Amino acid sequence: MKILEATSLAKRFGPVQAVADVSLTVRQGEIAGLLGPNGAGKSTTLHMLLGLVTPDSGTIRMFGLDLARHRTEVLSQVNFSASYLGLPGVLHVREVLDSFARMYGLRQPRERVDEIVELLEIGPLLRRKVIELSSGQQTRIQLAKALLNDPRLLILDEPTAALDPDAGDRIRGLLVRVARESGKALLITSHNMREVERMCDRIHFISGGRIVATGTAAELASDFGVEDLEEVFLKVARQGSIHI
Ligand SMILES: Nc1ncnc2c1ncn2[C@@H]1O[C@H](COP(=O)(O)OP(=O)(O)O)[C@@H](O)[C@H]1O
Ligand SMILES: [Mg+2]
Repeated sequence: MKILEATSLAKRFGPVQAVADVSLTVRQGEIAGLLGPNGAGKSTTLHMLLGLVTPDSGTIRMFGLDLARHRTEVLSQVNFSASYLGLPGVLHVREVLDSFARMYGLRQPRERVDEIVELLEIGPLLRRKVIELSSGQQTRIQLAKALLNDPRLLILDEPTAALDPDAGDRIRGLLVRVARESGKALLITSHNMREVERMCDRIHFISGGRIVATGTAAELASDFGVEDLEEVFLKVARQGSIHI
């Protein structure tokens, strides 16, 4: 079943055509990657999928429903986390999670927070202020927040960008475990090619606002006649729009 189906998305900001033609799908239980150079249109694409930016044209269907027409119903089953989103530093972790749980209108907010705290092993952090936490710990809290509403689709914009290799590795392990155990679909952007090779079932390459290639890491490497995803990335980034 298709969790997400985006067709021919486009978005212009004044003179900048941020997204020109993006079509992509994410299937049930799939970890999908959206890769491409800086400025390629990844974040704008994600923001359109999240209803934060209105596309100039194209359609977005999630869980079989049109996002524009069923916005509340669709978005209640999605969540988002990004390296550039901060949490309120002066609040304690417990207050942050309780606030989001109430904001999401969860039926048993306290119980759900406890469940997520156990899943992500963040019990020892609950009484700490957000500002006191390391980047790795803050990322963990961001993920906890993003899992509170038990989303069927979790969208993550460079979730490990601010993390050292060890913290990044822990977060990756956690994400894969959560996705596999609960059958959630993930759509993730990253500039860490090893991370993407390890995590993603399918990868969409975007360049100049267009999807230029889609496949598994192995399929892409083979199609581009190179060894690995890093080399695919370099070809895409340097040659711009390649159609295979
Ligand atoms: N709100 C905005 N206003 C104006 N230009 C924007 C805005 N958001 C993104 N852009 C521009 O759109 C292009 C794509 O940006 P973005 O989607 O952030 O790329 P990526 O996430 O792949 O680095 C860039 O040229 C960027 O400067
Ligand atoms: Mg971005």
